[in-house]
Amino acid sequence: MIELSVNHLLGIKYITEEDIQLIFETADHFKEVIQRPIKKVPSLRDITIANLFFENSTRTRLSFELAEKRLSADIINFSAGSSSVKKGESLVDTVNNILSMKVDMVVMRHPNPGAGVFLSKHINASIINAGDGAHEHPTQALLDCYSIRERLGDVAGKNVVIVGDILHSRVALSNIFALQKLGATVKVCGPKTLMPRYIESLGVQFEPNLIKALNWCDVANMLRVQNERMDISYFPSTREYTQQFGLNKKILDSLDKEIIVMHPGPINRGVEITSDVADSKQAIILDQVQNGVAVRMAVLYLLASKIKRNDS
Ligand code: NCD
Repeated sequence: MIELSVNHLLGIKYITEEDIQLIFETADHFKEVIQRPIKKVPSLRDITIANLFFENSTRTRLSFELAEKRLSADIINFSAGSSSVKKGESLVDTVNNILSMKVDMVVMRHPNPGAGVFLSKHINASIINAGDGAHEHPTQALLDCYSIRERLGDVAGKNVVIVGDILHSRVALSNIFALQKLGATVKVCGPKTLMPRYIESLGVQFEPNLIKALNWCDVANMLRVQNERMDISYFPSTREYTQQFGLNKKILDSLDKEIIVMHPGPINRGVEITSDVADSKQAIILDQVQNGVAVRMAVLYLLASKIKRNDS
């Protein structure tokens, strides 16, 4: 029986290349399912999932919710803004209250790095990390790599540059782990002040020049500048950032070869990429969103099948 090596998806760091390939093959199947006129399968009919969002989210929350509904799971939604967390309740108490309602799986976004790992040691449910601070965002990296595989046939052997605010980005870290596990070479590009000091110890080269980085790569993943995570200024002005690290159509058309442009969203149009790039044929931003549902269905399905076996 082929199954995941883990009971939780806490980060790409904790899973193997075989796990990722199994998720992709399962997502291929679900991608076919969600193109059908009847997009729903009964696979998770006896599973209850709590979506716990302690930090704002639009697309990740909607994507998980849709994936759960397509699999016929029962779901409960919770967001920190409207809860007792504001009254000082601890994370474990909040979640235990929810779990006493017999929840099997928890999808959690939390502002603190390591929140998912912490929770997995305290509660008896399968946990999926939907973003923990500036640490990891594993399902985003999976859907990004899945979208590269779909467009280019394979991730192995490809050159990928991640451009922008690497320091505050959980998308960057999870992508680096996933791309490397799948055999791609990764570089990062952006202001030196937005590069973590440990970056080269991850086997990732820093390229300060955007044009050089773009001429080297097959895929450019353009990240948002995460102003909400910055308590000081990391670069002189947004205009200057855009001049040095923004991708526009003129640059895209001047490159040696046709590259693929990705973005996890939300896009700041005109800052990290211009509208004509975001809407161009080379951008696969909406494919990423569509693949997100199939990839999350695969993760939920594979983790849920482990729960059922443990029960019996
Ligand atoms: C990212 C996130 O929240 O980490 N977005 C997402 O999940 N699609 C990136 C971002 O906020 O810039």
